[in-house]
Amino acid sequence: MTENDIATGYPNTWYAAAFSTELRRGKTLRTHVAGRPVLLYRTADGQPRAVDPVCPHLGADLGGGFVRGNDIVCPFHHFAFAPDGHCVRTGSGVRPPKAQLASYPVRERNGFVHVWVHHTGAAPTWEVPEADTSGYEGTHTWVLNYRAHPIDMIENAHDYTHFAFVHDGTFAEPAGEPKAEGHMITQRLFLTDFWFRTEKNRVDSTLTFYGPNLVIGEIKIPAVNARVLAIGAHTPRKGREVTGMTTTRAQVTLPKGTPATLVRGVNRLLTTFAGYTSGRQIERDGPIWTDRTFLHHQRVTEGEQHIPLIRRWAQQFYSDPA
Ligand code: FES
Ligand SMILES: [Fe+2]
Repeated sequence: MTENDIATGYPNTWYAAAFSTELRRGKTLRTHVAGRPVLLYRTADGQPRAVDPVCPHLGADLGGGFVRGNDIVCPFHHFAFAPDGHCVRTGSGVRPPKAQLASYPVRERNGFVHVWVHHTGAAPTWEVPEADTSGYEGTHTWVLNYRAHPIDMIENAHDYTHFAFVHDGTFAEPAGEPKAEGHMITQRLFLTDFWFRTEKNRVDSTLTFYGPNLVIGEIKIPAVNARVLAIGAHTPRKGREVTGMTTTRAQVTLPKGTPATLVRGVNRLLTTFAGYTSGRQIERDGPIWTDRTFLHHQRVTEGEQHIPLIRRWAQQFYSDPA
């Protein structure tokens, strides 16, 4: 059994390693995901790949290499590796040795390149869903680097009491207990004083987490006939360094007959507003996450039982496959 402790390790899950737009055809991107160096690249035919950047020939870092066609080429002796990881060519033209690059499962969904990392190397047990973006136009993208525990974002979303103190006096009323179903957990909240400052203009927010590090939020704002789709990622890089990445889309239903250019303009404006203001909220959490200690025994109040519930649910992402 391999050790992977919730206090110090990383969940076995899909991680948003980059935005799709960061990984252009024929280009490489060096990064870290869940404590491991990962080299992302996109083949000439457009497929994203994620590999362990250590060349099996003599150990050079493939991050300094380049993509030729669909192959990744090492900078040292120009050994080329096909998308299936096999060494298919050497720079000198001699027959390549039997060598295989270690790779990670990759899925490109919702404008992100997702990489599956399991501490034992086990295959994915579930899939990243494709969000329904129909009716939305344009996307607001937001990125922030901060220090945090890998499960800080999901725990934070279920810690309703801090909203009032950290997030502009927002008051959250849960529609019920969070619903956990395997790798997913869904929670519906009514928010007062988030975007709108009157009691009757509540925001109806449903967040579904897919594993502890990816969230799809569907938010309705009845006061202005609008809806928002927010896709968020909390991606541990190395140590406690995390990249927070969000894409936000917003759509408002305007009266029939409103000129299409006006509808587009309003939607773009609302998208920018919703994306910017949500991003600002994570900036407020950041400093608290940075200096927080992972407590093995939390002392929660009566109304905070969902916080340990999240911790227990997240435990499944630290276990070995059965
Ligand atoms: S170390 Fe990569 S080709 Fe030699
Ligand atoms: Fe927060």
